[in-house]
Amino acid sequence: MKRHGKFTFFRSIRFRIMILLFVVGIVSALVVEIVVVQSYETRAINQRSVIVRNQCDLLVDQLVKRNYLENTGDEVINGAFNMLTSIYGGRILVMNGDSRVIMDSYNLDTGKYSLSPEVIDCLRGKETSQYDEKNQYLEMTVRIRDTASSDQKVLGVLLVSVSTAEIHASRGILEARGSLILGVTIVLVLIFGLWMSGVLVRPFQKITDGIEGVSDGFENESIHVDDYAETELISDAFNRMLTRVKAVDDSREEFVSNVSHELKTPLASMKVLADSLNMNPDAPKEMYQEFMQDISEEIDRENSIISDLLSLVKMDRKASDIHMEETNINELLEKIMKRLRPIAEKQHVQLILDSFRPVTAEVDETKLTLAFSNIIENAIKYNKPDGGWVRTSMNADRKYFYVTISDSGIGIPEDSIDHIFERFYRVDKSHSREIGGTGLGLAITKRAIVLHRGAIRVTSKAGEGTTFSIRIPLVYVA
Ligand SMILES: Nc1ncnc2c1ncn2[C@@H]1O[C@H](COP(=O)(O)OP(=O)(O)OP(=O)(O)O)[C@@H](O)[C@H]1O
Ligand SMILES: [Mg+2]
Repeated sequence: MKRHGKFTFFRSIRFRIMILLFVVGIVSALVVEIVVVQSYETRAINQRSVIVRNQCDLLVDQLVKRNYLENTGDEVINGAFNMLTSIYGGRILVMNGDSRVIMDSYNLDTGKYSLSPEVIDCLRGKETSQYDEKNQYLEMTVRIRDTASSDQKVLGVLLVSVSTAEIHASRGILEARGSLILGVTIVLVLIFGLWMSGVLVRPFQKITDGIEGVSDGFENESIHVDDYAETELISDAFNRMLTRVKAVDDSREEFVSNVSHELKTPLASMKVLADSLNMNPDAPKEMYQEFMQDISEEIDRENSIISDLLSLVKMDRKASDIHMEETNINELLEKIMKRLRPIAEKQHVQLILDSFRPVTAEVDETKLTLAFSNIIENAIKYNKPDGGWVRTSMNADRKYFYVTISDSGIGIPEDSIDHIFERFYRVDKSHSREIGGTGLGLAITKRAIVLHRGAIRVTSKAGEGTTFSIRIPLVYVA
């Protein structure tokens, strides 16, 4: 199996599918992990702060009732403080109305004045709550209010900080588990991606194998891969191409065998004629002359076949050697008439030319002359033996000129009409043989007209006559 063009995995659809699955898998796993871990932490901190604040509110109630600000030695309150700090691993400070620390569970700042903005804010009536993520603690201030008095004066501040280290630790565990899941996901996605991409691109592999089978000549059949709409389109397109290639191949083979046959026929006749003269050394002079005349005719025939073939081959070389020139079409048709008139007269056929208006067009004069001559020659050749007519008429509009060539001849049978433009096709081989011809004339004509971006059509009725209609653009567009 030969491969043209390098197959690299990194350029394959398979690799791209894998990348896609990988990205989608990893991104979603990451997003889930981040969202879950983050929302866990936020929720836990919020919960903790609600609980602590509730407990502080209860404490503050007790504190005011037992007049703790005046008596910091109160065993009950201090016991409650102790419990709170030991449960949450925190510190409690109580400040009086002058923001002087009257109790510090760490016993560090007792007697000092606190100047922290939170304490000052709280004394003014605004309780605060703050989470310090870096040092992992939650700090909040609670007003100590005189609940007995009507104006609820702020008597002092309770400042509580509790550690959130274990929340953070739980987050760490969650993160570690998340990473593990992420790792497992990556491996699973890779394995799944490898398998999935293999399954997805298999039909394309089938197409490649099919095409390679056909091109290596192992299989001569068409390919059918209808797994996907796309692969079905590809196989259909390939099969159409295959059909065309086969048709071209067949027609080439047929052409070559026809050419050899046609070229051999005159040679075979000459051989027979020459051999019979050779075997008859005493043959009369008249016989010699007659046979030589026949040989000369066969040579003419061989010549005309070869020149027809050359015309065809030249025109097959596409538009590259087409010589377009502004040409007077009326004159072109008149010249053809003049040249063919003697042949027509010999056959008692009347040639009529109707030009409805003067026309000039961009055409290749030689090729177009050949095309029209072939049709008119046929119209004369395949006319009634006891005389008939051939009418050529020409008209034009702003885009095209039109030439119609009708005859009163033998006509073309319906089932032959589709074939007359094929190389070497002749309706009645024996009849055409006696008239002369190789069946290349109309093939040349059609080629010439197509080269001019024109069109040709035939209508015919056996026994009544034939009409060829040709349409050619006035201006040639390459
Ligand atoms: N005007 C016509 N009337 C009847 N039959 C025609 C006419 N023109 C063409 N045909 C038929 O079509 C066949 C093909 O024509 P074509 O011109 O290609 O070949 P040919 O005339 O036989 O040979 P060549 O033109 O190569 O010398 C002819 O053999 C003839 O049977
Ligand atoms: Mg002909």
